[in-house]
Amino acid sequence: MTTLSRFYQQVREARPVEPIVLDDPIPLEELQTPALIIDLDVFDANLAKMQSYLGQQEIALRSHTKMHKCPIIARKQIEGGAIGVCAAKISEAEVMCAAGIEDVLVTSPIATLDKVNRFVEARRNHPGLKIVVDSVDSANLLAKVAGLEGLVVDVFVDLDPGMGRTGIETGEKALQLVRHIGESNSLNFSGLQMYAGNCMHIEGFSKRKQKYAHIMNKGIETLALLDQAGIAVPVVSGGGTGTYNMEPDLGLINELQAGSYAFMDIEYRDIGGIDSARFLDFGVSLCVLVTAISQPQSRLITVDGGFKSFASDKMAPEFRDVEGVTFHWGGDEHGIVQLNNPSLEIRLGNKLPMLTPHCDPTVNLHDFYFPYRDGLVHEIWPITARGFSH
Ligand SMILES: Cc1ncc(COP(=O)(O)O)c(C=O)c1O
Repeated sequence: MTTLSRFYQQVREARPVEPIVLDDPIPLEELQTPALIIDLDVFDANLAKMQSYLGQQEIALRSHTKMHKCPIIARKQIEGGAIGVCAAKISEAEVMCAAGIEDVLVTSPIATLDKVNRFVEARRNHPGLKIVVDSVDSANLLAKVAGLEGLVVDVFVDLDPGMGRTGIETGEKALQLVRHIGESNSLNFSGLQMYAGNCMHIEGFSKRKQKYAHIMNKGIETLALLDQAGIAVPVVSGGGTGTYNMEPDLGLINELQAGSYAFMDIEYRDIGGIDSARFLDFGVSLCVLVTAISQPQSRLITVDGGFKSFASDKMAPEFRDVEGVTFHWGGDEHGIVQLNNPSLEIRLGNKLPMLTPHCDPTVNLHDFYFPYRDGLVHEIWPITARGFSH
C-alpha cells in the first residue's frame, strides 16, 4: 500500500459511519442552521415507489450513492430490494465496502496505476466490488495488476452515449473491447453500462423520451452485435431518475442506476412528468434548513445559507413553504431573500426549509443529515463519503 493510499485509508477510518442516536429527540426548529434535513416520510415513500415500480417491470435497482454518499442510506436501499449500489469513484466505493455493502459498481473508469492499485487493494477484501472499463489500455492495466494478485475482477464495459464524457464508442469498437476482455484470465465481462446523463434533465416527458430512445438505440444495436458474436450480456446497467419509467419500453437497461429519486431537487422537479408539467413521481425529501438572520432593508431578509450550503451550479434555491419571494445569492454564507409578496411572513429568527437546486453537489457540502419524522430528529446520519471524489 502506498503512503497516499494509507493516508486515505486513515482519513476514511476516522469518519463516522453509523447513525448517532440521540438520547432526546431534537425538534426541527432547534437545529442549528444551515442543516441538511430529510423528511423521512417522503424519503421512505420514494424508496418504496421506485422499488415497487422496478419490481413490476423486472428491472433491478442498483442505486447510485454518488448522490447521498451515506452507507446508512445505501443499506436502506438494499434492505428495500436494491441488488447493490453504484459509486462514482473508488473513494466512495471504499466507504460503501467498509460499511458492509457487498455489491458495489464503480461507474467511472480509471486509467492510472495508482488508481488501479487502489481498486485492486479494495477488491482483494470485497469480491463484489466491480468497475467499468472503456479502453483496451485500462483493461490491460487492470488485468495485469489483478493477475499479480491472482484475482478475477468483474468489469462492465462503459458505452459512450454520445456525450463524449466516458465510455467506448458503441458498435464495433465496443465489441472489440468486450472480446479483448474475454481473452483475459483476470477480467470477467459482467455486462454493459450506458448512462446518458445528457438526457436526464430534458424538459418535457415526450421530448426526453424521444431523445433518450434515439441515443439508447446505439446501445441496442451494440447488444445485437454482441449477440451475433455469441457473447452473452447478462446485465445492461444505466439510466437514472429522469428515465426510470422509459426503460421498460426501450428494453435495453435491466439494472437501473437511479440516485436522485430518493431526495429529488428543483432541477428534477422541473423536468416534467408523464402527465404533468412538474415531475412529481417522487417527492422532495431533502431540504436545507436556514434561519433568517438579518434585515438591513425592509423589502429584503437575509438567511444564513449561501454558496457553502447550496450547490450553485444550477438555479437558485427556493423556500419549500413560502411563495412570492426571490432568492439572490448573497455570497458564501448568505442568501438575500427579496420579499415581493410573501405567502408567509418571514421574521428574524425564523427557520425555514429550502429546496436544493441540485442535490448531489449540495450534499457534498455537508457533514451530516438530520432525518426527521413528525418534526423530530431522533438520529444524525454522517455523510461519510462527503468530499471524497478521488
Ligand atoms: C453513471 C451514473 N449513473 C446513474 C446516475 C444517477 O442519476 P440520477 O441521480 O439522475 O438518478 C448518475 C448521476 O449522475 C451517473 O453519473
